[in-house]
Amino acid sequence: MEDGGRWVETALSAFRREYGRDAQWAASAPGRVNLIGEHTDYNGGLALPCAIDRETLVLLAPCNDSRVRASAWDLAESVEFDVGVSRRRGDWSDYVRGIFFALAEKGVQASGFDLGIVSRVPMNSGLSSSAALGVAVAGGVSEGLGLEMGPRDWAHIAHRSESGFVGVGCGLLDHFASALGQEGHALRIDCRSEQVEAISVAGEPFGLLLVHSGVERRLADGTYGVRVDECRRALDAAVRAGLAPPSARTLSDLAGVEMEALEAALEPLLFRRARHVLSENERVEAFCKALAGGDLQGLGSLLAEAQASLAEDYAVSTPEIDWLCAFGPSCEGVLGSRLTGAGLGGFTLHLVLTDSREVAEEQISRGFEARFGRRPQSLWVRPSRGARVEALGDD
Ligand code: GLA
Repeated sequence: MEDGGRWVETALSAFRREYGRDAQWAASAPGRVNLIGEHTDYNGGLALPCAIDRETLVLLAPCNDSRVRASAWDLAESVEFDVGVSRRRGDWSDYVRGIFFALAEKGVQASGFDLGIVSRVPMNSGLSSSAALGVAVAGGVSEGLGLEMGPRDWAHIAHRSESGFVGVGCGLLDHFASALGQEGHALRIDCRSEQVEAISVAGEPFGLLLVHSGVERRLADGTYGVRVDECRRALDAAVRAGLAPPSARTLSDLAGVEMEALEAALEPLLFRRARHVLSENERVEAFCKALAGGDLQGLGSLLAEAQASLAEDYAVSTPEIDWLCAFGPSCEGVLGSRLTGAGLGGFTLHLVLTDSREVAEEQISRGFEARFGRRPQSLWVRPSRGARVEALGDD
């Protein structure tokens, strides 16, 4: 593994100690940061994430029986369950259990496994630690079982696990980004057709700075599900008003409908949700164009527009995020700032000119401390490759 040889060595020893045998597979999957295109995935729209250089590593060895033993070494927690008995526990292990649930649903008869997990993806921070875990387990288990699957399949299994087992009605953004990421690239994902285009950002004069708002966020908290439901209701109302054919499946199918007509047909709250989704899809297109044209100012303005739309129309910002996204662009070399991921806490994203890295990070951190009385967590991330699985043999 390229990343942190020592980290992997420590994990391999931990596996040996815990299970009394060697791991046979090493699966790793990264977290992600979404550059733009938020809350569009479950609405059949566009998103532009990068996989990041923070990964979850899962070591595995298949068993002869149907027992799964999984240890999250960072948390010092272990669970044991039977592949055929899937019950939610409301903790990290659901993202392991759910993979066996999703495989069973596809007719795969899995054996048991011993698994050991370590992660460098910050949890509950909007960087998709759960997708990283799910994709790594899906990849490791399917390779361990000798199934003919690839990263796209792992993403689908992990997505199914999250929507069908864990109970979060999320879209494909996180799983696709984690499974299909490419070094130095963002991925333009069309969530309706599931087409993915890698867009190089390697030569860009800016880096990705993440600054934590200090508020943890958890997808299962409820607001996410409320938004998913509001979008469905907005679509239904638009169809009832004759603005889209009954065959329309998602809000993105309303592209091209006049905003005035939509506003007249929907109650104000649902109109705002729909306006966010439709305008965000357009911003993703515009962002890709600005990247291609080297229009740095354009990138910054689009981030500001996206943030305003997420705050006002989609109502997923917080006072800390609002503040960071307003203050960020006033700092040296910061092109633009916005929340990333589902919102309501977690990290904010700042595009920062490479030459201003240190100054910008310090200015934002100091400003936040002066305003909120605590130093925020900040980190730089690089667009990185997606999930991979390696057989660990003697050869
Ligand atoms: C979370 C979900 C994704 C996506 C984003 C918002 O990360 O898991 O599917 O909806 O929020 O863009």
